[in-house]
Amino acid sequence: MLKEIDTYKKISGERAAEFIEDGMIIGLGSGSTVYWMMKRLGDLVAKGFKIQGVPSSNRTERWAEEFGIPLTDFGSVQSIDLAIDGADEIDNRLNLIKGGGGSLVREKIVDALADKLIIIADESKMVTTLGNFPLPVEVVPFGWEVTARNITQLGCTPTIRQKNGEIFVSDNGNYILDCQFSDISNPKQLHSSLKSLVGVVETGLFIDMAELVIVGCNEGVSIVK
Ligand code: 5RP
Repeated sequence: MLKEIDTYKKISGERAAEFIEDGMIIGLGSGSTVYWMMKRLGDLVAKGFKIQGVPSSNRTERWAEEFGIPLTDFGSVQSIDLAIDGADEIDNRLNLIKGGGGSLVREKIVDALADKLIIIADESKMVTTLGNFPLPVEVVPFGWEVTARNITQLGCTPTIRQKNGEIFVSDNGNYILDCQFSDISNPKQLHSSLKSLVGVVETGLFIDMAELVIVGCNEGVSIVK
């Protein structure tokens, strides 16, 4: 039996699959909400939809195999018709924090190439101001402690992400610093300050990228544009 929040993720993900049309190249985001969209997408493929997916993480790639979704890559496609991805926080301008699952770099590459980005999330992800969720920042392993100290100067407490007692390593072989700011009132400026630091690969701030958000909630879904 699904917990309430998982039910909201499920209805949001399933609703997003209704935006997929036959013949599309689809950017496949990452995370547990995306799982439900992909399950539906697998049903569409089984019905005869000619879809190709571009995965944004190794886990998403494995789900695509499980659901029979054909995959392609950047060497074969110039553009993506539609990307569908999850998020950790969404503000009322549809700016996002992503990277809770550690896939932010690949997600940003996939989402940025898409003509349209739909975000799927349960209602707990909607916020007025970003920053309650610690901002994931992917950094190269070499000298990560120096990069962390430099990030601290921007007014936050970075924590190196761990998994099972070891430093978490992203699909790209990098580390993630989870950066707790008091709030993120100017995400654009913060993103560019972080990106100017040597050692920073990418930030989990996705600014002006999402076109609409499908929010799963008690009433079903609400669409935020
Ligand atoms: C992974 C992400 C995910 O999209 C985000 O963490 C949301 O995940 P979930 O749908 O499991 O709540 O950014 O890097």
